[in-house]
Order: sequence, then structure tokens, then C-alpha cells
Amino acid sequence: MIDLHLPKRIICHNGSLSHLGELGADLGDHALVCTGRTSLEASGMLAKALHCLDGHAVQTSHFSAIDHDPSLSTVDAAVDFARETDCDFIVAIGGGSVLDAGKAVAAILPQEGHTRPYFDGERAIEQHPLPIIAIPTTAGTGSECTNNAVLTDTEHKTKKSLRDPRMIPELALVDPELTISCPPDLTARCGMDALTQAIECFVSIGANPATDALILSAIEQIARHLPGAVAEGDNMDHREPVAIGSLMAAMAFGNAGLGAVHGLAHPLGAQFGIPHGLACAILLPHVCAFNMEAREEKFAHIAPLLGAATAHDVPEALLGLNRDLGIPDTLADYAVTPSDIPAIIADSRSGSMAKNPRPASDDDLAHILNQII
Ligand SMILES: [Fe+2]
Repeated sequence: MIDLHLPKRIICHNGSLSHLGELGADLGDHALVCTGRTSLEASGMLAKALHCLDGHAVQTSHFSAIDHDPSLSTVDAAVDFARETDCDFIVAIGGGSVLDAGKAVAAILPQEGHTRPYFDGERAIEQHPLPIIAIPTTAGTGSECTNNAVLTDTEHKTKKSLRDPRMIPELALVDPELTISCPPDLTARCGMDALTQAIECFVSIGANPATDALILSAIEQIARHLPGAVAEGDNMDHREPVAIGSLMAAMAFGNAGLGAVHGLAHPLGAQFGIPHGLACAILLPHVCAFNMEAREEKFAHIAPLLGAATAHDVPEALLGLNRDLGIPDTLADYAVTPSDIPAIIADSRSGSMAKNPRPASDDDLAHILNQII
């Protein structure tokens, strides 16, 4: 069965940001432009985006206080700001945190009150979210195509998604040139998040022929070009295919789901502050080894794309790729101890974990975690 939910429009080419004005004018008169605190301004891209909107008579209000791993209070502050300024659509430009926060603002703004009751599931999102244009500046998270926003509940030290089918961005506007300013370590981590999403989606129980087609192309492009994008950050011959691969993976996993890597990466992020892409990259070889008996044929299919001779060589090839990208084998830099494992597992049973192709018991997950701490 194929049933795909995607943004109404997906645009990806070098320089596509310059079309933001006309595309924005189709959605409203007054944009809330959500960004992180600094890097966009330094690169001149923020000024370019605002200029494009202004050139098409779109008024803008800029909210720039979005941190990594956005909290409920960050979303609430942006919602209050947008309500005061009467914005009628959202433009989110940044990494996954900014896009997720922007999507949450778009969803909460037309509702009554603030984020907490919707995040806790006590209230349903009734009014249609505002339209949003999602413009990623990293190649990895895929938030520009998905129907959820990962938020951090700082009170309960947990990360989970605010989710609604209507939260899929109206427009995913991907300009690979925006990723040029992404530093090598962040490029590596985001790229491995994208590759993890691709591989988890390909072997997930929700995969279908359409998502498989997207993923095979995504894996080929990311695996071939990510090392070059990390080593030569201004080389568009590498940046562009990584951005396209990340986008295609997102189009697929937003529909087919993920797996145990993402199930475990969220508590590792919420409880220990471990960057999402780093947790994914380190977990991926071990979860692939665990899933091998359930999806050997599919791992055999992607083995050549990853430089592996057989399905069983895929985990080792992924470890080698991590090492080439400067990503460590373990989480030794973070203070995760064996006594922390039960709490990590208790918080890992998300929708992603439910899509893993081989059911994982608490003992199975403990075995995986013990290999990487
Ligand atoms: Fe991810």
C-alpha cells in the first residue's frame, strides 16, 4: 500500500532562496520569520530572505530567540510575539530545531492558550495550523517534510513530538547553498542523521515501494558525497547531492517511519544533551547489526551503496564511514553509565521504536547501549 503525505510544494535547487518573495506572497501578507540567534545574520542570508519578502510587499516580524532543542517556553514566547504582531504565515529558516519550533508555532498560534496541553495530549489541535515555509540550513533533519515538531520538556527532561497531519509545511524550500556555512562537525552529524533516517526508513515495517525508491537514491547520494561535503564545505558538487539526499530521505521517512536508533537517540538527547546526529551516527552500526536477521535482503540491497561487500558487512562499513567523518565509536565523551540504561530504555518506546523491523526487548536495547557507552 502506498499513502504519501508531503508538503504541497517541494523546491530544491541552488539559489532557490531568491524565490522566497513571490512564494511567500502567495501565502499571506505578514510573515513571522523564525531563526536561531546568530549564524544566519552573519552569512547575510537573513538579510537576503527579508529583502525578498519585502520586495513582494510581504511585511515581516523576526523572532530570533530559538535555541537548540527548543523548549515549550521558547515556542510560547514566539506564539505570544506572533499574536501581538498579527502574522498570517510562518517562514522558518535554520536547522532542525528552528524548523521544528516554527512548525510548533504555526500549529499553536491559531489555538487557544499555549503549548503544554497540546504537547501533553490533553487538548487536540482543532484550528488549522498557519501555513509555513520551511527552509533548512543544514542537510539532515528532514523537518521540512514531516508532520511533527520535536520539543524538549525541560520540566520532565524528556523530548517528544507535537504531531498533527496538518503540520506538514506548505512549502519545503531547500537551497543547498545555505548549507555552505555549516561547519564540518555539524555537516558530519547532520549528514549521518540523514543517512540514519534513510536506512531506518528502508528497513522499517512501514516501508513501501515508493519510499524504497526515494531511499535508494538518498542513500547513494549521501554515502557518496557526505565525506566530500565535510572535507570541502564550499564544494557544491558535494553539498547539493547531500541536500537532495537528505530531502528525499525526509519525503520517505515522514511516511514510512524510523526505528530503534531514533527511539534511543531522543532520550540520549533529552537526558544527556547528546547532539541528535551524533547519537544516531554512533547507534546506527549496532542497530543495523541487531536488525540484520529481520531484513538481511534489504541490507544486501544497500550494501554496495555503502561500500560493503555483503549485508553482514554493512555495520562495519558504517563504523568506517563514521571514523572517516571524525565521529567517535562511542559516547565516551558523555557521562552515560550502566546505571543510566534503564531510564534511557524507559523513555525510548516512541513511535519510531514501534517501526523497528525486529522487536527489541529491554535486554536487547541494554545490549546495544552497553556497546556504545
Ligand atoms: Fe533524526
